[in-house]
Amino acid sequence: GLDVCLSPNLIDLHEIEGRVIVVVDILRATSCMTAGIGSGITEIKPFADLDSCVKMKEHGYLIAGERNGQKVEGFDLGNSPFDYMDPANQGCKIAVTTTNGTQAIEKSLAGEHIIIGSFLNISAVANWIRKKDMDVLIVCAGWKGKVNLEDSLFAGALTDMIMPEFSPVCDAPLVALHSYLGMKDNLLEHVLDSSHARRLRRLNISEDIEYCLRFDEFTVVPELVGGALRMSAD
Ligand code: MLT
Repeated sequence: GLDVCLSPNLIDLHEIEGRVIVVVDILRATSCMTAGIGSGITEIKPFADLDSCVKMKEHGYLIAGERNGQKVEGFDLGNSPFDYMDPANQGCKIAVTTTNGTQAIEKSLAGEHIIIGSFLNISAVANWIRKKDMDVLIVCAGWKGKVNLEDSLFAGALTDMIMPEFSPVCDAPLVALHSYLGMKDNLLEHVLDSSHARRLRRLNISEDIEYCLRFDEFTVVPELVGGALRMSAD
C-alpha cells in the first residue's frame, strides 16, 4: 500500500514500522541531499538540532545550517543545492540541520528503509520503490508542522508514478495526486505562489526554487543507514 503523511505533526496517525519511508522537503533540504549525493558528497548526516551538527566539525565534516530559510552564522554551507553541487565539496562529508527537513527525518527513524525523495531524483525513487515491493509512506516535511504545497505536489507526482502497483491506504495520496494533476502543467508558477517560495524570494533566493522543480537531474537514491545518508546500493 501507499500512504502520504502531509505534515510531520500527523505522523503518529500513520504506520511507519516495516515501511519504506520517503522523506521529502522540496524547498530545499531533500533537494540539497539529492544534489549533494548525486554530485559526489560521500555522506550527509542529518541533525535536528544546531549544537549536535556543529560538533561534527571536529570530526572532519563540513557543516550546513539553515533556519527560516537563511544560512546559520558560522556554518560552512547554507541550504542551497548549488552549495551541495560545488565541485570544491566533492569527496567531502556534510553534517546538516534545517528548519523542517532534518526534523522530518528524525520523526521517520522507525521506518524499515528511509530514503530521500525530490523532483531531482523522482524516477529513481519510483524505480527503487518498485524493486523493494514493500509498503510505502511518503513523509512531507511541510513548514513548522503545517502542510505545504511543494511537498504535497511531490507526493502527488510520486503517487502518479507508482499508483498502478501501490494502492492508496487512505485519502491523503489521492488529495496529493489530484493537486498534482491539476497543477503539473504549470508547476513552477503554482509553487512560486507557495508560502516558502515567497519567503525564499524575499531573501533573494529564486534560482533554487526553479532548480528544485526540475525532474530527474540525478539517478541516485540517498538512503539513511547508521545515521548517515549515502548512495543506496540497491
Ligand atoms: C527546511 O528544512 O526547512 C528547508 O529546507 C528550508 C530551506 O532552507 O529552504
